[in-house]
Amino acid sequence: MAPSVAELKGDEATNPALTGKAKLSHPFYYPYFDVKEQFPPTQLFEHNDPGARADPAKTHLLTANTTTRDISPYIGTEITGVQISQLSKEGLDELALFAAERKVLLFRDQDFKDIGPERQIEIAKHFGPIQRHPTSGNVKGYPEFHVVYRDPEHDVFRDYRGRDRASGVNWHSDISYEKQPPSTTFFFILDQPGVGGDTLFLSQVEAYKRLSPEFQKRLEGLRAVHSAVQQAEFSERRGGPVRREPVETEHPLVRKHPVTGEKALYVNEGFTRRIVGFKKEESDLILNFLFNHIAKGADFQIRATYAPGTVVVWDNRVTAHSATVDFDNTILRHAVRLTPQAEVPIPA
Ligand SMILES: [Fe+2]
Repeated sequence: MAPSVAELKGDEATNPALTGKAKLSHPFYYPYFDVKEQFPPTQLFEHNDPGARADPAKTHLLTANTTTRDISPYIGTEITGVQISQLSKEGLDELALFAAERKVLLFRDQDFKDIGPERQIEIAKHFGPIQRHPTSGNVKGYPEFHVVYRDPEHDVFRDYRGRDRASGVNWHSDISYEKQPPSTTFFFILDQPGVGGDTLFLSQVEAYKRLSPEFQKRLEGLRAVHSAVQQAEFSERRGGPVRREPVETEHPLVRKHPVTGEKALYVNEGFTRRIVGFKKEESDLILNFLFNHIAKGADFQIRATYAPGTVVVWDNRVTAHSATVDFDNTILRHAVRLTPQAEVPIPA
């Protein structure tokens, strides 16, 4: 039986919520770093995408009480009148399909943050085994949680990005270095600034469609290396954990979604390092062009805004995203991600 949230306590010795430095609404999810924590290398698994089982009519997800509003034609839908925590297995399958089709879903007024860790993990596991992050803050006893945290004394984001950067924007697809990168990803906000701290998302499907047929043809069949090394080195430098050997994985530059069949660019500045078989200059030229192409595609991007109770769900296979750190570092921001892994990327 899972403990109720009211019973859950962080570790008093390391928890600023309990020492008065910052007021966390959910101290249980205070990021936990155990430098001695070790995970074995990940094993390949068979993935059956829940979206493939879904009824395209989505009658278990979208009922008479549901309101949806598309944010852009290509990406993003805001949904009210549904509780993720109440969805049946069929409803969760339909959520996977809807996330694949719309790329990003903003569920408003959710009780998800208060249903307890066991239930949160159980729901996310419907979509695939949850990644246990090799370096980020997790929750003691629950390595499935990836905690995003910033307060006046902790600004990992700026440390990682580098404090001499003119912009904090960093487009990436989460943990794309894994052999089986994630699909339907859950992000729920616990404490957020009154304004700011939105997440930028873009459609890698639309980004691909904007390229000429000739250029698309040149990209298809290419593979690129995605690396976890830089992330591990950063953690090591600041005395953080490296819970398993950082991996480097080759993925197709253009991947096909297993359910919708849509082709998407699969490169991101955060983790993609080089194109296999190209000389460095050639690889840099193409990757930098693609990074710039997606970064300036404001006409296939959205901003996901947060309000208390918001849960954002996105399909990492067909999107890239970036935090916007546009709020003062005296402000607390606390959020949690659950990141189910999916198939080995299918080349287009
Ligand atoms: Fe991310």
